[in-house]
Amino acid sequence: MKLPSPRGSLSDTLIGALGGASPLALAEPDDDEDLQLSLFICYELSYRSWDGVDDAWEWNLDMLRLRAGLEERFAAGLGRPEPADPETVPAALAAIVAADDGPSLSGYLRGRATHEQFREFVTHRSVYHLREADPHSWAIPRLGGRVKAALLEIQIDEYGGGAVHKMHQELFKQTMSWFGLDLTYGAHVGVVPAPALAVNNLMSYFGLHRARRGALLGHLAAYEMTSSLPNRAYANGLRRLGGDASATAFYDEHVEADAVHEQIAAHDLCGAFARDEPELAGQVLWGAKCALEIDNAWARSVLDAWASGGSSLRV
Ligand SMILES: [Fe+2]
Ligand SMILES: [Fe+2]
Repeated sequence: MKLPSPRGSLSDTLIGALGGASPLALAEPDDDEDLQLSLFICYELSYRSWDGVDDAWEWNLDMLRLRAGLEERFAAGLGRPEPADPETVPAALAAIVAADDGPSLSGYLRGRATHEQFREFVTHRSVYHLREADPHSWAIPRLGGRVKAALLEIQIDEYGGGAVHKMHQELFKQTMSWFGLDLTYGAHVGVVPAPALAVNNLMSYFGLHRARRGALLGHLAAYEMTSSLPNRAYANGLRRLGGDASATAFYDEHVEADAVHEQIAAHDLCGAFARDEPELAGQVLWGAKCALEIDNAWARSVLDAWASGGSSLRV
């Protein structure tokens, strides 16, 4: 994927350094856009990375030092895990999800969104869905036994059981195609604002640190437990706008799949993990809370942009 345009002095320095134009100097981000983009650029070095950027940058010490500073700033807004009784983790996850009172982006998309607004929504989501499941796969080698098996049961579905056309990453391209969007991995990173990048950065932050494996599983559980109903709403909203079966396939698939994943994630994955590693029980719940909080902040930013009659994307 192509390196995006800078959004401040730090991302400017970082992009210049990765392109080989200048050495990487430690600097402070100008604002949240500069921070989230810089962090996203650093994290992407561990995924499929950027066109023309040397693979060695993934483990470059200056980059890692810069990334650690950005992570510290990002994490400062995420609160802290609190100790929890491992036996109550599945019930506590259900309570966190039930207490979630975030803005209903799915309700808006189902009943009111225009074609253009839905297209913007798909553009935002493409940053995640084109690599859906990848951030949570970082947990696989860090787990064993029944917990690993539970995670794999979910991930195997996410990756279409090994059939490329069933991979959720690929299914989403059908939705994007219907809207005439560029299907290239990462094509829309440059136009999504900070809150959408933060959604992705959170997963990478949890995923790339073994120490946060509990939070990563809690994050996945929160996603699986809050997915089925919104996806039904997305599918119905898209049908309202004339979307055909191919366009809605990604959302339809998640209505069924995540009703099952929800149970596996809460009990077989997070419940068992908390019993195996009781000192991380609270971290699981924290990860779930962070997932909902960061997603809600993004949803609010999108709805606010639309309410003021504008675009939710950067122009
Ligand atoms: Fe999925
Ligand atoms: Fe799922």
